[in-house]
Amino acid sequence: MDLATNYMGLTLKNPLVASASPLTGKLDTIRQIEDAGAGAIVLPSLFQEEIEAEAARYDLLTAVNTESGPEAQSYFPALTDYNIGPHNYLELVRRASEAVDLPVIASLNGITDAGWISYAKQIEGAGAKGLELNIYFIPADLTTTGREVEQRYLDILRSVRAAVSIPVAIKLSPYFSSIGNMALALQDAGADALVMFNRFYQPDLDLLKLQVLTDLEFSEPNEIRLPLLWLAVLACRMKVSLAASTGVGSADDVVKYLLVGADVVMTTSALLRHGPGYIATLLEGLAAWLAARDFASLQPVRGIMSQHRLRDPQAFERANYIKILQGYRQS
Ligand SMILES: Cc1cc2nc3c(=O)[nH]c(=O)nc-3n(C[C@H](O)[C@H](O)[C@H](O)COP(=O)(O)O)c2cc1C
Repeated sequence: MDLATNYMGLTLKNPLVASASPLTGKLDTIRQIEDAGAGAIVLPSLFQEEIEAEAARYDLLTAVNTESGPEAQSYFPALTDYNIGPHNYLELVRRASEAVDLPVIASLNGITDAGWISYAKQIEGAGAKGLELNIYFIPADLTTTGREVEQRYLDILRSVRAAVSIPVAIKLSPYFSSIGNMALALQDAGADALVMFNRFYQPDLDLLKLQVLTDLEFSEPNEIRLPLLWLAVLACRMKVSLAASTGVGSADDVVKYLLVGADVVMTTSALLRHGPGYIATLLEGLAAWLAARDFASLQPVRGIMSQHRLRDPQAFERANYIKILQGYRQS
């Protein structure tokens, strides 16, 4: 079975990508992910705040700007195993790239197009085959307009694009007013791939302690529906590669994402639940699904259920929503 695919100019032996998580941050689990057969990995993010905290610490040590040190250091929670700092991050990129044959994609996570972007160049130098940008921005300032939020994404992308020659993907928010138009703008600004979508972690409340809870919940399979809708709408109409991200629980979810037109399918929660070896289970399920229908490769399958290629394109629009609501009342 030929599962080879192209993702932002990289040739992958199959479309299964381990997305950014603690599993992709350690060499032993990176090797396990490769042994299980993944097509590529995305390393955990290097955060803008980590870079700024390191710069502030350096300023403090060299007494160039003693005033800014302690304050800037408090921007970011103390470094944990997960946030290893810029120097160690470059080391991770280097060692991961040497340790495995599959493409290693690094991840930068920030919200402004300030000096931290220069790290993109160093990440490229350390051997990353691609770079994923995660702009995790919550516009909690009520004066920020939608246009300003969009511009922020475009400015950061353009700065990074100008700094590196490796392919650049952008992990998108699902909360733009017009996702299709934003996708086109990002394509025009130089993105090589769109990752759909970034999963925004929403807080809960502890009613006993009256505290905001910041516990992390893994995604559930029904969360594929939002990315599925927008991948279906964008597929076959964009030049950039499309990565499906969020909610993969089984091989069926992988098949669904490919049917609507994803070039690759990313997974984290399933690997954290079942272990890196689960990549092999997903791949076996995908190959079995294709073989049962006499497909010898992904090519004839990809995108056949995208909006562009469906006989009833309205299945993804308002008319279907009305049909669904009416269907419920009648049953
Ligand atoms: C423990 C944990 C750590 C993560 N760390 C990162 C990260 O550093 N950068 C990033 O872009 N996404 C990060 N993510 C998000 C995942 O890459 C992925 O987008 C998200 O979990 C949705 O995919 P899933 O439904 O397959 O889990 C993390 C997710 C988890 C659960």
